[in-house]
Amino acid sequence: MAKKILVTGGTGFIGSHTVVELYNAGYTPIIVDNLSNSSIKILDQIEKIIGYRPEFHNFDLCDDVKTKNFIAQHSDIGGIIHFAAYKAVGESVEKPLDYYKNNFFSLINLLDAYKGKPVNFVFSSSCTVYGQPEILPVSEAAQVQKAESPYGNTKQVAEEILSETAQASKNYNIIALRYFNPVGAHHTALIGELPIGVPQNLVPFITQTAIGKREKVTVFGNTYNTPDGSCIRDYIHVVDLAKAHVAAIKRMESELSASNYEVFNIGTGTGSSVLEVIAAFEKSTGVKLNYAIGDKRAGDIEQIWGDATKSSEVLGWTAELGLETMMQSAWEWEKYLKNGGF
Ligand code: UD1
Repeated sequence: MAKKILVTGGTGFIGSHTVVELYNAGYTPIIVDNLSNSSIKILDQIEKIIGYRPEFHNFDLCDDVKTKNFIAQHSDIGGIIHFAAYKAVGESVEKPLDYYKNNFFSLINLLDAYKGKPVNFVFSSSCTVYGQPEILPVSEAAQVQKAESPYGNTKQVAEEILSETAQASKNYNIIALRYFNPVGAHHTALIGELPIGVPQNLVPFITQTAIGKREKVTVFGNTYNTPDGSCIRDYIHVVDLAKAHVAAIKRMESELSASNYEVFNIGTGTGSSVLEVIAAFEKSTGVKLNYAIGDKRAGDIEQIWGDATKSSEVLGWTAELGLETMMQSAWEWEKYLKNGGF
């Protein structure tokens, strides 16, 4: 029997791609999601890709009784990948308590439900914990900076909660993955990012503009201290990112972890500027993008990209897909949405 892996937030953007990759790697994914930022239709889409409909449970992990009962009734779960969380930086500034409640209660309830029982646990962290690093590429050993937003703070404090929990009990085997900028979509164009309202992130804004839903993309500043003046990020294809979670689960199962709390950067090791992303979009899709240079966005980091040495040498995972594949797949997904495929 294939090992069952619980994927919280499994109908979300990264969650859904990870469900597919887990299944492809021979695992049986089970999803818990309260659909607060996703659609139940994603289950149909996953089924179209893998030919299997994952077991799905709709409840809020902030409910400690439901979480405890669920874990007690599913003693065959062999690992957890915990995505379920709020993730919008701007919204977190307006509603900090919502962010602290949702992101902490769910995490603590899950960990608490495993008191006294062994568990392999993968956590979605973010490169946001580094702030603006002094040395690039930024490695896992870099000093964590004071968070710029309540969202960022939930990631930092969650890492502390996990590290202290692992220190207190060897039952917890934990890997935190610090994602850089996840973009793109599955090559089938059956799953992808589903932003609610106006997208805040660059790539969905680009694809929505190209399809005619938005008038133009504003490049947030071109006077940064970078080669072309626009900000630099480490964009990573969501399918590569999904595979990193499978690698993390395998590492813990094979008892290869150097300690029961480990942290890995999940990026490509390469930075791309906003203007380079736009150029890659135009080149890979043949679509001309309407864009203009605008003001800097408050709170933006000038440049960041990750050191991928530890994830490749220790975790045994390396990103394979390039920027043009990211853009092309995001575009196919946008067209699929427009054609009412979803
Ligand atoms: C943001 C969050 C980060 C979070 C990540 C999730 C901030 C400060 N950081 O990262 O914590 O983990 O999303 O994906 O919000 N840009 C434009 N025009 C646009 C939109 C973006 O030029 O319309 C630029 C931004 O200035 C930035 C780059 O594109 O340089 C990427 O922006 P975005 O996709 O919002 O991600 P981050 O800001 O890197």
